[in-house]
Amino acid sequence: MTEHIKIESKENILNLTFARPDKKNALTNLMYAALADAIVGAETDRAVRAIVIRGEGDMFTAGNDVGEFAAIATGTFKGERHVARFVSAIARSSRPLVAAVQGRAVGIGTTMLLHCDFVVLAENAQLSTPFVNLALVPEAASTLLMPLRVGYARAYEMFALGETIDARTALGLGIANRVVPLEKLHAEAAAVAQRLAKLPAGSLAATKRLMRNANVLTAQISAESECFAERLTTEEAREAFTAFAERRQPDFMKFTK
Ligand code: COA
Repeated sequence: MTEHIKIESKENILNLTFARPDKKNALTNLMYAALADAIVGAETDRAVRAIVIRGEGDMFTAGNDVGEFAAIATGTFKGERHVARFVSAIARSSRPLVAAVQGRAVGIGTTMLLHCDFVVLAENAQLSTPFVNLALVPEAASTLLMPLRVGYARAYEMFALGETIDARTALGLGIANRVVPLEKLHAEAAAVAQRLAKLPAGSLAATKRLMRNANVLTAQISAESECFAERLTTEEAREAFTAFAERRQPDFMKFTK
């Protein structure tokens, strides 16, 4: 295990598990680093024929660690940031990516699903992208992929109002492939990964390459990252992070654009 990410390879499947359940699997910089290294490493590991992404505990992930956002906003964060490497790795991975989601998938927890090729949801899954609630902007090419997937109207509602959607709604909108009872989630994801692993890997990778233009995705990711970095240092964002730490509602009305 590296930095709250469990990495296990078994029967041609690479399992990547968020393992920080006491913090609702909130993703830290070091967790992104471990995920990026594993996904990029799989590109040259012929034994890996599918990748499963999942989370321990009662939820998939509460999204990016808000404390780290706050540290960036106040300039106290030091060192290299790895989130961009992770996002680029999932956007460029040639391996079939399977996600198994229980409970909440917040922020990047939902936007990463748009890069997964097969998404299995437990019946209790709840997806949300409350970037604007945190005075930020959506990332991981979701400003392109989400409207494409669910239409502009629904995507705007999810992004602007931070509306949570349940598993059945996500299935209906085409964000997910299956909804299964919670106790069957990991078995179902493993079964799908096993099926994918048995297919001709070259053909599967070429199909994915034709369906997803990685260069278009990475250009969108760059545009979003620039805007995201700018937003992180605004007064609005500082208010949002402070409110989260103080467990209160933010007051954005005191700021003008
Ligand atoms: N970053 C850092 N810590 C987080 C976190 C996050 N994104 N989400 C949860 N945690 C921490 C909490 O601070 C708390 O820590 P503590 O026990 O030391 O106080 C612990 O995880 C449990 O969270 P809690 O809020 O008590 O759980 P909950 O079940 O009541 O609520 C959520 C779960 C996900 C609804 C809520 O934690 C939340 O809204 N988190 C923020 C989500 C978010 O805005 N993510 C970024 C999106 S861009």
